[in-house]
Amino acid sequence: MDDIEAKIITNRNIVKDYFLLRLRLARPLGTVVPGQFVMLKIPGNTVFLRRPFSIYDYKRDVMSIMYKVKGSGTLALSNAVKGDSTMVLGPLGRGFNIYNKPNHIVVAGGIGIAGVHLLIKKIKANAHVFYGCTDEKELLLLNDLKMQDKYISTIDGSYGYKGNVIDLFRTRLKDYNARDTQVYACGPEGMLKGLKHALESHRAPCQVLVEERMACGLGLCFGCVKKTLDEKEPYKRVCKEGPVFNLWQICL
Ligand SMILES: Cc1cc2nc3c(=O)[nH]c(=O)nc-3n(C[C@H](O)[C@H](O)[C@H](O)COP(=O)(O)OP(=O)(O)OC[C@H]3O[C@@H](n4cnc5c(N)ncnc54)[C@H](O)[C@@H]3O)c2cc1C
Ligand code: FES
Repeated sequence: MDDIEAKIITNRNIVKDYFLLRLRLARPLGTVVPGQFVMLKIPGNTVFLRRPFSIYDYKRDVMSIMYKVKGSGTLALSNAVKGDSTMVLGPLGRGFNIYNKPNHIVVAGGIGIAGVHLLIKKIKANAHVFYGCTDEKELLLLNDLKMQDKYISTIDGSYGYKGNVIDLFRTRLKDYNARDTQVYACGPEGMLKGLKHALESHRAPCQVLVEERMACGLGLCFGCVKKTLDEKEPYKRVCKEGPVFNLWQICL
């Protein structure tokens, strides 16, 4: 982990309020595990605290982040342009463990695709991807991914299954034997809760990337804790012990 100077190569609006930021780093990040994140300085002087973003893609000294504009930080980021300077602290946290299983199921909702993009690239031959978004336009977020098996849901029914991604996932769950399956997920908390419910009787192992507001990103401030079922130390720091947790251990 290192704090690295970086310059913006491109900051492209993909669709609606989703952006893809490409950065040239002054030196490489080193080994990156899918699911790890960086604390990014927002270019300019208006936003003080850094913001956490999953490493969307990474090769040598070029790193990208896919983000959705939510509040002041991401709005300021969306206004940054080619050549602007920033700082990247990372890679941080614990990413996904990729086990040797016949079936790898990835469930993602909305901007959650950013957290599992590197993972899908790594396991793409075996990845069965369930992705849910609002409408067909948001499928542009999947353009970088060449996938064999993908199951799409849109809330408005403009593409694929009409409804949410967990309802779609339920329709296919019987095709997967729990022993041969590893599930990975990233998305809004409601989606993760729904996933836990859907898998309750199936009981496949499942790793989830959890988001929490962060101040330091380094395990120092305890501002990002989540409750788990660990009896000795129930509160875990998302930035240090996470952001990837065992679904069956975390309180959602
Ligand atoms: C490990 C990790 C990886 C992440 N990866 C990505 C990513 O790849 N792409 C992306 O777009 N976003 C990602 N996020 C979320 C991103 O950090 C927040 O959207 C961003 O910090 C919001 O900053 P802001 O100043 O725009 O919004 P703020 O003004 O700080 O907040 C706007 C709204 O968003 C809510 N919010 C802020 N941060 C979070 C959070 N971490 N979790 C849930 N709600 C939040 C606030 O409560 C508020 O309602 C990640 C978060 C974590 C912890
Ligand atoms: S953000 Fe400070 S401990 Fe996690």
